[in-house]
Amino acid sequence: MPYSEEFGDFYYSRADGRSESRHVFLAGNRLPDRFLASRHFVIAELGFGTGLNFLETWSAWEAAATEDAHLEFHSFELRLLDRADMQRALAAWPDLGGKTARLMQAWPDHPDGDISVSLESGKGSITLLVHAGQALEQLAKAEFAADAWFLDGFSPARNPDMWSAELMRNVAERTAEGGTFATYSAAGWVRRNLQAAGFVVSKHPGHANKRDMSAGLLASSGPVSPE
Ligand SMILES: C[S@@+](CC[C@H](N)C(=O)[O-])C[C@H]1O[C@@H](n2cnc3c(N)ncnc32)[C@H](O)[C@@H]1O
Repeated sequence: MPYSEEFGDFYYSRADGRSESRHVFLAGNRLPDRFLASRHFVIAELGFGTGLNFLETWSAWEAAATEDAHLEFHSFELRLLDRADMQRALAAWPDLGGKTARLMQAWPDHPDGDISVSLESGKGSITLLVHAGQALEQLAKAEFAADAWFLDGFSPARNPDMWSAELMRNVAERTAEGGTFATYSAAGWVRRNLQAAGFVVSKHPGHANKRDMSAGLLASSGPVSPE
């Protein structure tokens, strides 16, 4: 189980990281259903970590995408993992093995800057762009409009920078019309930051032993007042 000493938290659910990825981040953004009709889809993630969410998304995209469709996957990461550590964590999911190997081929031994990888799938191609550094600084410089956001910092109590009002405003500013977000967190102050940034936020049943998670849609009328 990958664990961060710096933040005192695990990278994903100890119950089952892959099913958490599908339940929270994919289903929470109504994926893969929205892939079916898309020629171009943009996902952005806060916290690349081991790349598990990315690999799970790639599998879902491959299964659902139409010929010639393109997925752009942006992820923001402060502490890029060394290749050996990432490989050790991802070895827990042998049926992602082919995709893990292709990601690892492109991943530096000791990454020290942004990473950009182009991947051809059976159907639909993918570009992965990992923006290295503080999410807030990197996001403020980024130019894209995400159709779906995966908000996956460490727990808000241990990693408040990844859930701040300012960062959530930057997230909303880089969200396409009709764009959505999903996160495992249902913390009240995180939900209020998302609402203040302009999202309509709703609670859903969480993964495994978590009672609730949050998901939402960018409001077309702009930011709304917090509750
Ligand atoms: C819960 S883990 C992400 C797990 C990941 N999505 C996966 O599939 O393995 C949270 C990640 O957020 C990163 N992180 C924490 N604070 C950050 C910050 N201020 N800016 C960018 N990344 C940050 C951590 O280094 C860690 O990799």
